[in-house]
Amino acid sequence: MTILVTGGAGYIGSHTIIELHKANHNVIVVDNLSNSSKESIKRVEEISGKSVKFYEYNILDQNKLKEVFKENKIDTVIHFAAFKAVGESVSKPLKYYHNNIAGTVSLLEVMSEFHVKNIIFSSSATVYGDPVSVPIDESFSLSVTNPYGRTKLMMEEILGDVFRADNSWNIVILRYFNPVGAHKSGRIGEDPNGIPNNLMPYISQVAVGKQKELSIFGDDYPTVDGTGVRDYIHVVDLAYGHVMALKKIEDRSGLNIYNLGTGKGYSVLETLHAFELACGKKLNYKISDRRAGDIASCYALPNKAEKELEWTATREIDEMCEDAWRWQTKNPNGYKSGK
Ligand code: NAD
Ligand code: WQD
Repeated sequence: MTILVTGGAGYIGSHTIIELHKANHNVIVVDNLSNSSKESIKRVEEISGKSVKFYEYNILDQNKLKEVFKENKIDTVIHFAAFKAVGESVSKPLKYYHNNIAGTVSLLEVMSEFHVKNIIFSSSATVYGDPVSVPIDESFSLSVTNPYGRTKLMMEEILGDVFRADNSWNIVILRYFNPVGAHKSGRIGEDPNGIPNNLMPYISQVAVGKQKELSIFGDDYPTVDGTGVRDYIHVVDLAYGHVMALKKIEDRSGLNIYNLGTGKGYSVLETLHAFELACGKKLNYKISDRRAGDIASCYALPNKAEKELEWTATREIDEMCEDAWRWQTKNPNGYKSGK
């Protein structure tokens, strides 16, 4: 099949293209490089030995999108393109509503015009807000605590409305838990701008000496050791989940929603210790105040994806840390590190 990947130069998109190539799909990318670099695509091509047709376009620009749909016979869209920084979304909500929501509506309109009605959408465990219990299954009630999360929830609702109005659409909504790690080659990985917001990239930068110490945001949560617990999932497992979700689209099965997580939770301290083992050194940390909006525990019940997509995460936390460490050491300044 020919798959249009929006946001394909980004962290999850780049890893997904490799899995799509392995499954013999033809990949086209639209990305405006607002949070990525073309270098990731170059390296994806080098890893998979296949080429990617790349359009440096903004999904908000419908004329450009139409060009892409005219030039290519697209079967399915995997839609990653979005802004994702929670803190920034609080200070610049309109930037997030415009890019994520108007961007998705723009894409859906063009898809509709070209009768391409198959889409896999990147949602997030953030739509569960502060869950009443863990593990979290897909039927849990939804709520959000910040504008970024609200964009994900609104887009899930928009997709639901689109499907109810026209049930010839095939839509898979994937709720990712916490993607971490990198491709085994160490050639592609997560490349945050400036000081990382997320745990694993921050620990990686402490390990490589770019940050002095990790601040652990709170040690008084009702968890195993008082620090926050999350479901870290290897980005390659997550990427493969999209290949399996494509099969659901091929079955023309309407609207479906799946958690993509491992089902296991690790605390911040457990994750830090796993990384210490991977990099072979002790890492400095201090306990700080809780971060506003954080929750104690969040991990998935991944049974629905296992049963219906025949997908399960296979990589453990040690492998996630080893792969993140390899990427970080080979590319201390991300893609800017050069060849
Ligand atoms: P990323 O920032 O690395 O990738 C997103 C890509 O989309 C970037 O390459 C960016 O340049 C591009 N983009 C953004 N706006 C665009 C626009 N208007 N037009 C064209 N391209 C545009 O992020 P990621 O971590 O790969 O996340 C991919 C998707 O998964 C996002 O939708 C994100 O919200 C979602 N998600 C991410 C996580 C996570 O922790 N990484 C967790 C849950 C969900
Ligand atoms: C993990 C744990 C922190 C940094 C975010 C988004 C979510 C989703 C994934 C997109 C928490 C602790 C972190 C640090 C710390 N993204 N921590 N020191 O908050 O679970 O999820 O990314 O959809 O929407 O909110 O991930 O990696 O930021 O934090 O102690 O420097 O690490 O408090 O317990 P989070 P995270």
